[in-house]
Amino acid sequence: MPYQILPSLLAADIGRLADEAKRAEDAGADQLHLDIMDGHFVPNLSFGPAVVEMAKKRVNIPLSVHLMMTRPGQYVSSFVDAGADSLLIHVEAECDVSEELDRIGEYGVRPGITINPDTPVRMIFPVLKKVDEILCMCVFPGYGGQSFIPDVLPKIRDLRQELERQGCKKTDIMVDGGINDETGARCAEAGANLLVAGTWLFAADDMAAQIKRMRDAVRTAT
Ligand code: DX5
Ligand code: ZN
Repeated sequence: MPYQILPSLLAADIGRLADEAKRAEDAGADQLHLDIMDGHFVPNLSFGPAVVEMAKKRVNIPLSVHLMMTRPGQYVSSFVDAGADSLLIHVEAECDVSEELDRIGEYGVRPGITINPDTPVRMIFPVLKKVDEILCMCVFPGYGGQSFIPDVLPKIRDLRQELERQGCKKTDIMVDGGINDETGARCAEAGANLLVAGTWLFAADDMAAQIKRMRDAVRTAT
C-alpha cells in the first residue's frame, strides 16, 4: 500500500487558510484533510463547503473531507460541488450509513467510513465492500491537539485482517488524531497507510522536513 501524509487544515492559522493550504502542498503533502464539525455530532464548529471550495482553487492535491456530522446526507452534494475528492462519514451518524456511502460513490467521489475510538470495529464490517477508505479515529473527534489513544492499534490490525478476508486488499486505512512520526509509524506498522496530522505538521516551521521525518519513520517501521 502506498503511504500518504495528509495535513489537517484544522490546525492551520485560520487568518491565512489559503496560504496554509498551499504551504502544506508545497511541503509535499499527498492530500489535504478538512475537518467539518456540525456542533452536534461533536461539540465544536469548524468549516463549511466554502472552505473546501477555497482549498480546491488554491491547491492541486486531493481534498479529503471528514464529516463529523449527525446528518451528513443533507450536505453531501454541497461538499461534492465544493470539490471534495473523498467524503468520510461516521458509522455513529444518525443516518442510513450504507445508503449514504452508495450516494457518495454515485457522485464519483471516494466514499469513506469513519469509526470512533470506542466503537467496536465489527460495526463497520457490513460496509467494507462499499468504501475506498476507512478512517480509524485515534482520539475522540472534535478538537485538534489531543493525545493518541493506543487502543486503536489492535483495531487497525483486526480491520486489515477482515479487509483481506473480504477481498478488499486495496482499501486504504486512515488514522487521525494525535499523529506524529512516532504514533504514525506505529499505525503504519499495524496496517494504516493514510496518516492525517494537524498540530504536529502545522506547528512546524519547516513542514517539508517534518513530512520527511514522518516518511522516514514509516519506512523504518514497515
Ligand atoms: C479531530 C480531527 C482531526 C484533527 C487532528 O477531530 O478529525 O483531523 O485535526 O489534529 P491533531 O493532529 O492535532 O490531533
Ligand atoms: Zn479529521
